[in-house]
Amino acid sequence: MFAADVYIERRRRLKEQIQSGLILFLGNEESPMNYPDNQYPFRQDSSFLYFFGLDCPSLAAIIDVDRDKEVIFGDDLTVDDIIWTGPQPVLSERSETAGISETAGLEILQSALEQTVQQGRDIHFLSQYRARNTLKIAELLDIPPSSVHEHVSETLIRAVVAQRSIKSEQEISEIENALDISYEMQTAAMKMSKPGIYERQIAGAMEGIVLSLGGRLSFPTIFSIHGETLHNHSHGNLMKAGDIAVNDSGAETSLGYASDITRTVPVSGKFTQRQKEIYTIVLDAQEQAIGAVKPGVEFRNIHRLACTVLASGLKGLGLIKGDIDEAVNAGAHTLFFQCGLGHMMGLDVHDMEGLGEDYVGYTDTIRRNPGFGWRSLRLAKELEAGFVITVEPGIYFIPELIKRWKAENKNSQYINYDMVKKYENFGGVRIEDDVLVTENGYRVLGKKIPKTIDEVEEMSSG
Ligand code: GLY
Ligand code: MN
Repeated sequence: MFAADVYIERRRRLKEQIQSGLILFLGNEESPMNYPDNQYPFRQDSSFLYFFGLDCPSLAAIIDVDRDKEVIFGDDLTVDDIIWTGPQPVLSERSETAGISETAGLEILQSALEQTVQQGRDIHFLSQYRARNTLKIAELLDIPPSSVHEHVSETLIRAVVAQRSIKSEQEISEIENALDISYEMQTAAMKMSKPGIYERQIAGAMEGIVLSLGGRLSFPTIFSIHGETLHNHSHGNLMKAGDIAVNDSGAETSLGYASDITRTVPVSGKFTQRQKEIYTIVLDAQEQAIGAVKPGVEFRNIHRLACTVLASGLKGLGLIKGDIDEAVNAGAHTLFFQCGLGHMMGLDVHDMEGLGEDYVGYTDTIRRNPGFGWRSLRLAKELEAGFVITVEPGIYFIPELIKRWKAENKNSQYINYDMVKKYENFGGVRIEDDVLVTENGYRVLGKKIPKTIDEVEEMSSG
């Protein structure tokens, strides 16, 4: 945890924004995998972590804005529990570390909320993404579970998003701690990737590195020679000479801050000429996009810049034809780049997505473009100093998509399908870094991970 002052200040700022009513935060519960006592690793809710820092299950908290009162609710362990868990600090001790002196048993929460309702005061709570907590809110507020989402507080969501979006020095340093782990994961994967090795050996080694360094994965590892599948979580392929593997992986520190890095690795240590050509285009798009990062720029325009660089490069190889701006306007590039350029990062690898992606990446005037490719852009709005974002362009040859577009003759004035056919089994290339928006521009966070063709080849064959 950070020092208590950090959480006190975060809550003070939140209260200032909410102005009236009562704010309810639910921490997460343990979540069973296949029977109650066999649980997934516990992950605290990120907003609960942000405002209270307490990383243990079955807690709730209220911030009574009208009365300037904060209470943590939870039940201390019984001796029967301690037999299995070992001794744990009691709730009052834990809460002091978050700067809160008032605690109560969970059974008191219901009556505290009932009183608030009777007083005609607002209860603010965030969007829920776990069924257990949706049910709890339904019970606590006596509303049907199916309508809980109708009662979430937009005021609270907007205030939390505004606050969590701007990272403090301490948070940036935690993200860089996660990136130190990413450096070890990525370089180990480059060194280990060899013909005759299974993807799972690399994925497993990377997970071992994260755990040995006191972290855990910030999301399920994507490590695949089928990098054209954007979120490929299977690791069953045997890698062969000539393959390239997309390694999109990340760590989370013990405080919950994430890293998210992608490198594309030649399995035999050297890229082929064709792989170099595609890689160079993606790297150019990534570098130009990162170079455009600064406060006041809309990220959707940086996404467009990346699309334009990708399309120009693909035109150079004869895969795209015609006027590049017109091709991008028509969406021709989305045959090769089907997703968005990046997302916010912090306590969640896709930061705050649980609160609603549009609250995080869009505004009342910057609305999501529903077109294919564009609709997957998670972040479109103006950048602000203190945002941490990913910049992750790619080129993906997805045989099923190529087949579909070709059958429909889609964008055929901009796409040379005869040439595309020759790349059908290419796979994919993605390159991703985590970038801080600074007052004047940007800073790529973390230790430099091999990225140029020469750097990657040197690490891969070393
Ligand atoms: N690293 C996976 C993603 O950004 O979706
Ligand atoms: Mn990412």
